[in-house]
Amino acid sequence: MLCISVEKFLFWKKIQLAKGGDQQSFAFLLDCIGGIPTGDLNSISINPKATLYLKKNLGYLESIWDDHLQKSCPIQYLCGITFWRDLKLKVTSKVLIPRPETELIIDIVFNKFRKRSEELFFAELGTGSGAISIALALAYPLSEGVATDIDQDVLKIATKNFINSSKKSNLKFYCGNWWLPLESFKGKLDLVISNPPYIPRDTYEKLPKEVKNFEPKVALLGGEDGLKHINEIVQKAPLFLKENGWLILENHFDQSEKVKQLLFKNKFTSIEIVKDLSGIGRFTIGRYK
Ligand SMILES: C[S@@+](CC[C@H](N)C(=O)[O-])C[C@H]1O[C@@H](n2cnc3c(N)ncnc32)[C@H](O)[C@@H]1O
Repeated sequence: MLCISVEKFLFWKKIQLAKGGDQQSFAFLLDCIGGIPTGDLNSISINPKATLYLKKNLGYLESIWDDHLQKSCPIQYLCGITFWRDLKLKVTSKVLIPRPETELIIDIVFNKFRKRSEELFFAELGTGSGAISIALALAYPLSEGVATDIDQDVLKIATKNFINSSKKSNLKFYCGNWWLPLESFKGKLDLVISNPPYIPRDTYEKLPKEVKNFEPKVALLGGEDGLKHINEIVQKAPLFLKENGWLILENHFDQSEKVKQLLFKNKFTSIEIVKDLSGIGRFTIGRYK
């Protein structure tokens, strides 16, 4: 720990923020790498004559901030950490930074399966950092989950995140193309969740550089119309779900009507479009018979 005066710290902070960037990203850096919790930032400035302790020196923090500003690299990748619901997750450039809007998927599951003592067998297709599966494995401790991804390196990160978040072993990871690694679980799943790559090619090409240059293409691009992977997931879901099992999908802001039709065509019932906090039909869910 390095001890510095609050006065010096506040002066330095002002200079860093004057270079650009947003307060939230700067606070994230101070919290994750500097060891100053965001909640302490206001109280620190009340007494400039005091001292404070930093985990890393100002020069080191400044080099990360400069990288963030110059290259537009997301601060989460530079810090190697992100926060999602109540989880602290390791992230590298191999995995998508889990988004705040995706947090609602867990609430949708809570609405459908109200007892935490439920012994669910769930699968998540395309787990990335593991955020969704880990949250479910923790929330339903008697459940068993399987989480897949196409990339073995991604699964190493998800596995680390699970080990860091839980002492239990109720979540297993499998590598492979969508349903392929789950062949032995046909007809056994109570719940399948996926936030697959769903961005149409045209939109992908125009994504902001902090996304396009840093987040994995394989996690974002959903083919020409964005629905390539969603189609594949929905068409095979009936083979894997138990009777009355739920499929919960995240989709692009304008895809929910199409996904609804797709679920209908594949004989799902109780189909619903669930809006995110911005009022966008972000999730489409249905029950297999
Ligand atoms: C949009 S990201 C979602 C990650 C994580 N579930 C989340 O919500 O933050 C999609 C994930 O699907 C994985 N993926 C892409 N194509 C896949 C495929 N053909 N089979 C399995 N996983 C795939 C990507 O590697 C990526 O981790």
